[in-house]
Amino acid sequence: MRIRTATFALLVCIGVVLLCVEIAVAQAPARGTAQPPAGGAAQAPAAARGRGAAPAAQAQVHGDLQQVMRGILFPNSNVVFSAQSVDPTTVKKAPDPTAATDPLASIYGGWEAIENSGIAMAEAANLLMIPGRVCSNGKPVPMRNADWQMFVKGLRDAGMATYKAGQSKNMDAVVEVSDTVSTACMNCHDVYREKTPAQGGAAARCTK
Ligand code: HEC
Repeated sequence: MRIRTATFALLVCIGVVLLCVEIAVAQAPARGTAQPPAGGAAQAPAAARGRGAAPAAQAQVHGDLQQVMRGILFPNSNVVFSAQSVDPTTVKKAPDPTAATDPLASIYGGWEAIENSGIAMAEAANLLMIPGRVCSNGKPVPMRNADWQMFVKGLRDAGMATYKAGQSKNMDAVVEVSDTVSTACMNCHDVYREKTPAQGGAAARCTK
């Protein structure tokens, strides 16, 4: 039963971003390899190029980086962080668990909420590699930078480690993986988000 429910939840998560992932893989420069010169979209399949209209399945960017962070990574990492002090199985179900705004109190609550948050964070790593996204200051997401790609991989790995910790149903594993997640967030923030006034402040975000 648990597997079936988890599978369903995964399909919901994965379904949303599946097209994005396919296109990102097709269009984005290969991670961790030498980068082509500007215009990586030239790697898109011939069918996706040179036509007026984008194909229906084209990955689309809808928010800036800050919105992706606030909308996906912030809430999902908090689900994991909360499990450092509260056993997920003890979280009381919402009055209507099908309408719960806290994943831990929903029908997909308990350890499964940890698993799902891990998947959400790993999938969100793909969203950090879609061409065309900008940061809140208008600067392009620096997805061609080797360290950016490394930090994205760190997030992906931390997400999947969270998924496994959820599957293990072990408090120690979740406490440990919380540290892995916050380190993955911090590694990138230290370089691309935290900018002192001397470094140029918010206008210098997403640059080095
Ligand atoms: C690959 C780099 C990278 C990773 C990994 C990353 N972030 Fe971010 N994050 C950024 C950048 C850059 C900004 C600034 C975005 C902007 O201003 O558009 C940001 C902004 C944010 C914000 C918005 C802050 C504000 O000022 O409103 C939150 C919240 C956030 N990140 C949470 C997280 C969490 C939680 C994780 C880990 C689960 C994470 N981020 C992982 C690069 C990253």
